[in-house]
Amino acid sequence: MSEELTGTDAWPAVPGTVPATMRAVVFSEFGDPGVLHVDEVPVPMPGKDEVLVRVGAVSVGRLLDLTARAGTHPYARFVLPHILGAEHAGTVAAVGPGVDAAAVGDPVAVFPVISCGECAACVEGCSEACPGLQIMGVHQPGAYAEYTRVPVTNVHAVPEGLSPATAAGLALAGPVAQNQLTQAGVEAGDWVLVQGAASALGSLTAGLAEHLGAKVIATSRSAWKRERLVELGATAAFDPASDTFVEDVLALTGGAGVRVAIDDLGEQRIWARTMAVLADRGTVVSSGAFLGGRVELDLMRLYSRCQRVLGVRTGNPDSARRLWEEVEAGFRPVVDRTFPVAEAARAHRYLEADSNMGRVALTATTDDDWRKL
Ligand SMILES: NC(=O)c1ccc[n+]([C@@H]2O[C@H](COP(=O)([O-])OP(=O)(O)OC[C@H]3O[C@@H](n4cnc5c(N)ncnc54)[C@H](OP(=O)(O)O)[C@@H]3O)[C@@H](O)[C@H]2O)c1
Ligand SMILES: [Zn+2]
Repeated sequence: MSEELTGTDAWPAVPGTVPATMRAVVFSEFGDPGVLHVDEVPVPMPGKDEVLVRVGAVSVGRLLDLTARAGTHPYARFVLPHILGAEHAGTVAAVGPGVDAAAVGDPVAVFPVISCGECAACVEGCSEACPGLQIMGVHQPGAYAEYTRVPVTNVHAVPEGLSPATAAGLALAGPVAQNQLTQAGVEAGDWVLVQGAASALGSLTAGLAEHLGAKVIATSRSAWKRERLVELGATAAFDPASDTFVEDVLALTGGAGVRVAIDDLGEQRIWARTMAVLADRGTVVSSGAFLGGRVELDLMRLYSRCQRVLGVRTGNPDSARRLWEEVEAGFRPVVDRTFPVAEAARAHRYLEADSNMGRVALTATTDDDWRKL
């Protein structure tokens, strides 16, 4: 890997012999971030077609991590003690039988959504609809740990020069953002509205749409985040709660509205404004609804304007392949900041306060990352 990457930006070295136990951030009861603590647990052993990854960085997810820890996750049931951490990146430390697509020492990004590979949805390339779908850190132990066990089909070689935190920030949200834009049919020159564009996923979707040549209208409730979103490439940034939001968007788009709108928030009033600025033949995409998800839909308006509402559950192998092609072409995620993995509780509090502009990740590369300050 690139030699200029040092400290927490470096990829973790892998030992000659994999140890029997490892450090992990676990929680044994639901509660505030204080329930997260470092413990010693067994290192998982890679089975057939699996690799062992020495974790370098792991993203902190709003729904997957914060609600899971708090005990308010809308659908998953957890067996405690549990290790969080879905989207991550690291160095291949060992390979199981049958693996020839990855080798010890490879820097990889891990797509943490594991599908069966055999059902009709998987065979048709739509593995996000797999009935047996499992997410690392939710249905299985996750990556707030020194090592993870991953199907080799879920790892992607990371191009030279990317840090583990940057690669982690792309590993899941990247294929999701790509799938959203592909399914909506976004083309260069299109107006694309991204609600909650300062979020980890929103910033990635906005950035990818800009990278693909779309004109992005980003939203955030915070003035400093709106300023930053424009610096990062948005054509305009508005407050979704402002009384002039609808007229501002319509004025900017010459009265036509946006061809594509991304709403991963699921907040009723914001949704109503999204629909009010959606162009004829426009598409709204949702891959999240952490603010409730119960919204009103005016079917008469929808059909008479030939509009579409699309649910995109997550990424899939094809969207991951396309995303990594765009990374090779220069696309990068917005990494807000990192915390050492031992400071996971502080990272959770930081996200709960909506302090982030982009992705927040935990670094786990060095011994220092495992020491509490
Ligand atoms: N389907 C998937 O695979 C997938 C993957 C990743 C994420 N997601 C979904 O994407 C969504 C965002 O997740 P994330 O981890 O990217 O979030 P995040 O980084 O924690 O950001 C959440 C954003 O929500 C906005 N927000 C919070 N409370 C709000 C309110 N009351 N009204 C309006 N906006 C509010 C904040 O925006 P401002 O402070 O800027 O206004 C904040 O930036 C979630 O619904 C999550 O489930 C889905
Ligand atoms: Zn399947």
